[in-house]
This record gives sequence, C-alpha cells and structure tokens, in this order.
Amino acid sequence: MSLRTQVGIVGAGPAGLMLSHLLHRQGIDSIVVEARSRQYVEERVRAGVLEQGTADLMAETGIGDRLKREGLIHHGVMFRFGGQTHRFDFDELANGRCIIVYPQNKVVADLFDAAAGGRVILEAEDASVHDFAGASGVAKAKIRFRAGGEAQEIECDFIAGCDGFHGICRPSIPAGALTVYDRVYPFGWLGILAEARPSSEELIYAYHERGFALLSMRTPTISRLYIQCKPEEDINDWPDARIWQELKLRLASSDPNWKLTEGKVLQKGVTGMRSFVVEPMQFGKLFLAGDAAHIVPPTGAKGLNLAVSDVRVLADGFAEFYRAGKKSTLEDYSRKCLRRVWKVQRFSWWMTSMLHLFDTDNAFDQRRQLAELDYVTSSRAASQSLAENYVGLPME
Ligand code: FAD
Ligand code: DHB
Repeated sequence: MSLRTQVGIVGAGPAGLMLSHLLHRQGIDSIVVEARSRQYVEERVRAGVLEQGTADLMAETGIGDRLKREGLIHHGVMFRFGGQTHRFDFDELANGRCIIVYPQNKVVADLFDAAAGGRVILEAEDASVHDFAGASGVAKAKIRFRAGGEAQEIECDFIAGCDGFHGICRPSIPAGALTVYDRVYPFGWLGILAEARPSSEELIYAYHERGFALLSMRTPTISRLYIQCKPEEDINDWPDARIWQELKLRLASSDPNWKLTEGKVLQKGVTGMRSFVVEPMQFGKLFLAGDAAHIVPPTGAKGLNLAVSDVRVLADGFAEFYRAGKKSTLEDYSRKCLRRVWKVQRFSWWMTSMLHLFDTDNAFDQRRQLAELDYVTSSRAASQSLAENYVGLPME
C-alpha cells in the first residue's frame, strides 16, 4: 500500500510525536511510523524533569491540562556532599524560572491522545528510508516498512528521523557525510522506581566517596532513585536490600532528622552513559532530531528537553517552507540546533564530571571535585550559571 504525506516521521518518542503535534497545529500533514506498540512506548521508564520552556510549549499548544494538574513545580534543587545539603534557589538565581517533575511516559501519553485524529502507524517492522539525498522538489522521499504483514510505503516531501540513538535514519546517511563527536563514560546509573513517598521535596544530587547518587521522584508517592555503578553492572547482583543500603550510605545527611523513605521496588535497570553529537543534523531531505542526533549523559536531565527544542526549530522551518515557500529556516536547522546542543552537552558533561567518581582519578582529583562543589555552592556567579542551565537556556 502506498501513502502520501508532507512530512514522514520515523519514531514515536517525544521528538516524533511532538513534531507531529506542532505540524498538525500549523496545518501540515505528517505520518509517524513507530516500531513498537503504544503500550511499550508509554511504559518505558525514562525522563522525569521538564524545563519550564518544555512545559510552556505543552501548555501553549493545548496539551498541558494534565501537566498543570499533576506536574510538580520545583523552585530549587539540592546538592549534598560531606553530609551537608546546599540548595540552588531558582527564584533568586534563575529569575524565577523553574522545572517541572512530570514523567516522560505522561508526556508521550498526552501526545498520543492529542494525535488521536492524526496518523501514527504502530508496530511497523523493518522501516527504511529512501530517495532523501537531493534537495526538496518534485522527487519524493520514501519510508518503507511492513505493518500487519504487508509491505507499505510513504511518499513525502521530507523525512524527520526521530528514531532515537539506535534508530535507522542516522545510519542511512552515507558514511562521510556526518562527523561524529563521542565520549563514553566509565560508569552507568542503576535506577529504581519505588512505591515510596519522596524523602525530599526537591531533587538531591549527592557526591560521595562510594559514588554518585540521585534522589528524584515521579509523583508525591513514587520515588525515582539512581546510583552510579559499573556500565556493565549485572542487575541480578543488586537485590533490593543492597540497593537501599547503598542509597542510604550515599545520600546520608548530617541532619539527624533526615531519613531515606524505602518502599516496594516497582522497576529497576542499568543505563550506560555517553555524550554523542553528529554534525550536521541534516542530509538532503532527511532531518535528524532528538536522540537520533545527540545523546547527553543523564546528569542534569536534558535529553528529553533537547529533543523538544530540536523539533520546535524543525516545525518552524517546515511551517515557513509550506506557508511562504522559503527554505532559509530549514536550511539553518542544523546550525541553530547545534548551538544549543553543544551548550547542553557542555552542561551535562560538567555536571557528570563534577559529581561522579572516575576510576582513573586519584586523591588530587577528588579534592579538586570537592573544591568545585564548594565553589559552585558558595559563589553567586557559579550558582547562577548552574541554575540558568538547569532550568533551561532560553530559545535563541
Ligand atoms: P526516543 O525516546 O528514543 O524515541 C525514539 C522512538 O523511535 C522510539 O519510540 C523507538 O521505539 C522508535 N524507533 C527506533 N527505531 C525505529 C525504527 N527502526 N522504526 C520505527 N521506530 C523506531 N531526559 C530528560 O530530559 N530528563 C530526564 O530526567 C531524563 N532521564 C533519563 C533517564 C534514563 C534512564 C534514560 C535512559 C534517559 C533519560 N533522559 C532524560 C533522556 C530522554 O529519555 C531521551 O533523551 C528522550 O527519550 C529522547 O526522545 P527521542 O524522541 O529523541 O527518542
Ligand atoms: C531524573 C533524571 C536525571 O537525569 C536527572 O538529572 C534528574 C532527574 C529523573 O529520572 O527523575
């Protein structure tokens, strides 16, 4: 079967669904092709923190009702080291901007609901992209896949590769056309979701001689907690009691009233950590967005937010093209996104480097990290720099 659309989108993660939603609002037709089921995509436990700009975009485009009801607004974030807790006050340091704790699965569910009338083809197998090399014009780009056992093809003016880090779009671009910038970290995060009231109203990033730990949350009754671990850590070596024991040690506070609330572990897993960027983020009629183009290490909670800021720029480019026949914004897509991408890469790398133990580090490096933590929590200029990046840099 052959289908036609203006923008063919591969991947129904936050990038693909948000792009489809923004295009729909501009009267631009799109079809999203997703390898997994809606349930699988919605149940993946991933990001939890939205920059205010991401939340504002959801509200401005009519998908903010549940976010407004259930999102937890945070006006600060904590660092803990040497048992002492330091708060970054966004009201004071970030002109009152804030972050919102609202899980990625809810963002994705809200986008799916908004797309009820649009076209999302789920459980599409063997997707491949074709004829995207030239400039936009008469020749159409194509997405081929199998759905319901049948071979299908979508003809489109443009393809948006929103299929994540392991997707097929980026590897379909001829070798040599892209430059890869990459760094793999010698550790990962072991994360749990627990039926436990969060032990703190705000997130706590903890530096500890046993390794980094993070206390986060999803709802007023569900905690999300992480500990630094080996990248190849076997989750079977970590029964729940061992995880809680390690969290208690790393998140220990000098405040005798502070206690880590424990609860039933609902989900657990290990994630590796890397920094990755390809340049440019476009080849002919194929535009890469979100994790398909870049990965940040999770410290600082930027991945989802960066995916959303990419598709915002891309949607503007398509809107200008279809409205006025102008290609200048589309042609500037990669340059414009990469300016933000690199600043966010720098911030995520810096947060990661400051807060984790590296096995190549010695006692000097640990003293240096402690000095940096002392500086960033005591200097107004340094605190302000952290806060303005954490709540999200302004869109250009
Ligand atoms: P994805 O969410 O990966 O979506 C890509 C989609 O494409 C998927 O649905 C996939 O099934 C589909 N796909 C792949 N291949 C194909 C194919 N061949 N055909 C069709 N479909 C395909 N970010 C934050 O901002 N804040 C956080 O707090 C945060 N915490 C995180 C914690 C963890 C443990 C992890 C793993 C990530 C975290 N992130 C966080 C990062 C964030 O989850 C990602 O950056 C975000 O999901 C990127 O969205 P995306 O749409 O670009 O890619
Ligand atoms: C979460 C993840 C992060 O990477 C982070 O910096 C803060 C919170 C989370 O999953 O809640």
